[in-house]
Amino acid sequence: MPVSPITIAIDGPSGSGKSSVSKAVARELGLAYLDTGAMYRALAWWALHREIDLADQNAVAEAARALPLALSTDPARASVSVDGTDVTEAIRETRISSSVSAVATNLDVRAELRRRQRELIDRAREEQGGVVAEGRDITTVVAPDAEHRILVTASEEARLARRSLDVHGAAGAEHLAATRDQVLRRDRDDATVSAFFEPADGVVGIDTSDLTFEESVQAVLDVVRGARGQH
Ligand code: DC
Repeated sequence: MPVSPITIAIDGPSGSGKSSVSKAVARELGLAYLDTGAMYRALAWWALHREIDLADQNAVAEAARALPLALSTDPARASVSVDGTDVTEAIRETRISSSVSAVATNLDVRAELRRRQRELIDRAREEQGGVVAEGRDITTVVAPDAEHRILVTASEEARLARRSLDVHGAAGAEHLAATRDQVLRRDRDDATVSAFFEPADGVVGIDTSDLTFEESVQAVLDVVRGARGQH
């Protein structure tokens, strides 16, 4: 009997663990993985590369519409390239993290990337049985009809510690202070265009503050397998 395709929509703030958890869930279930944040980051990279003024809303929106983006949706080999250049690593650099909100809060950019995200989700449903799509507005705007919608959260303390470990390989006081500014400012800016601190109606909230990575993955799998009910 053919199995119906599924979309698992996962949102959450920076450092909530949603990216690594989403990727692991996709691998476990044999689904595609769509990192929508990587699309915003790729656009920021491309705009900086072309020396476009990020404050010029029209020029950035134009760049979004023309963005020659290739994104792998294989959770075992996530890769991003722009105009043939592999930017998988480059889009994680601090200069991108600190400028990406400027492009992500541009509403014309969001309309264009949302259109592309829906296309990628539709294709993954047709060809790969479904997708785990993660970001900030997937449960609410990009895929509000997804079969499963989850908001992954964590306390500010836990989020800062995780980001600090990711970026600096340590979570001492100095590293935490450097991370705090960047993470909190970015979340505050991003939250002006998407609501990702509280679960929307019908979205299951998972607080990972006190969960290990494996427990967080299991908590999402439990929701998908029906062991944890929708609110
Ligand atoms: O999850 P991330 O840190 O890679 O996201 C990069 C940026 O893109 C971040 O500033 C938030 C923004 N973003 C967004 O506005 N909507 C999404 N669906 C995904 C990411």
